[in-house]
Amino acid sequence: MIGAGGVAVRHAQTLREFADAAVVAVADPDAGRAAELADACDARSYSDPAKMLNEQSPDAVYICVPPFAHGAPELACIASGIPFFVEKPLSVELAIAEQIATAVLEADLITATGYHWRYFDTVTEAAQLLAERPPRVVIGSWLDKVPPPPWWVRRDRSGGQVVEQLTHVLDLLRVLVGEVEVVHAFGHHLSRPDHPDSDIDDVTVATLQMAGGVLGALTASSLLSHKYRAGLEVIADGLALQLTETELTIAREGPPTTRSPANDAKFAVDRAFIDAVLGRGDDVRAPYPEALRTHRLGLAIAESAATGQAVYLSGSGPAGADPAFETLS
Ligand SMILES: NC(=O)c1ccc[n+]([C@@H]2O[C@H](COP(=O)([O-])OP(=O)(O)OC[C@H]3O[C@@H](n4cnc5c(N)ncnc54)[C@H](O)[C@@H]3O)[C@@H](O)[C@H]2O)c1
Repeated sequence: MIGAGGVAVRHAQTLREFADAAVVAVADPDAGRAAELADACDARSYSDPAKMLNEQSPDAVYICVPPFAHGAPELACIASGIPFFVEKPLSVELAIAEQIATAVLEADLITATGYHWRYFDTVTEAAQLLAERPPRVVIGSWLDKVPPPPWWVRRDRSGGQVVEQLTHVLDLLRVLVGEVEVVHAFGHHLSRPDHPDSDIDDVTVATLQMAGGVLGALTASSLLSHKYRAGLEVIADGLALQLTETELTIAREGPPTTRSPANDAKFAVDRAFIDAVLGRGDDVRAPYPEALRTHRLGLAIAESAATGQAVYLSGSGPAGADPAFETLS
């Protein structure tokens, strides 16, 4: 385990439920955090991830570091041929994620990413419904509080709310609706007494044009005291779907129906990675190069909000794609 913060603790708890996997070592520059999680897992603790990899030669690694700390952990795993699971977002800067994706493809390495929403059975059901009635317009949102880690409110540390948080919704949008061709976003920041260090936009809106003429609108805000809404609505001819982590609402003829997922997606995403590493399964739904496409979209929205200019993805622009956001072949 590289990184021993909130999400590492969650993955370690899940892994402890597996009879065929064990956390053998935890590395975090915060030695206290590394030791605490290592003790809970009966594992060895390190403050230097490189030293841990050298000494332990693990079968697989979980990389659970903040957005700004990506790069060295992934490249060290690739150099040693160690499969890795990495949390979203993949980076703050696009270049490092592109470098990692290229190296992963060259090494033909098993990877997985923290886009666990793909495993909800409600998402599978939504995809089946949309196969019959193609989407025409989507509305995505993440309206929430500022999460506890101090790095979250710093643009150069987290990438901002769209890159860091709305990314789950962007990934769902790609799975259910398709690729985005053009984004035009606006963001705004006001100084906040409760977060004096913050330099990220606390409100963002974006319009999207997608393949096949599908349109979209996104809103993100971190101004609230609790998670008010985080999810995606998809409208097709005679069909409206609303998906969150906790519910799928289907509105067709007659009264709408709502149900909760029947499975635990956070469990499933870890199980699929471990199965792939053990050679027993092929259900990793967002390996690194696939997750990079979602990450590019988040960074494109952030770029558009910063410049006020539309950003073209996937070669869709008048002069082709912005080279920074061209799709990985
Ligand atoms: N998929 C999900 O549902 C989900 C949920 C929560 C967090 N996350 C993601 O996981 C990442 C971490 O979030 P968190 O809440 O655990 O943050 P956190 O701040 O609680 O923990 C991050 C840990 O990484 C350590 N760290 C920093 N640089 C490091 C380095 N170079 N090598 C090793 N460790 C390093 C820090 O000391 C800290 O202990 C974020 O990108 C976040 O978006 C994903």
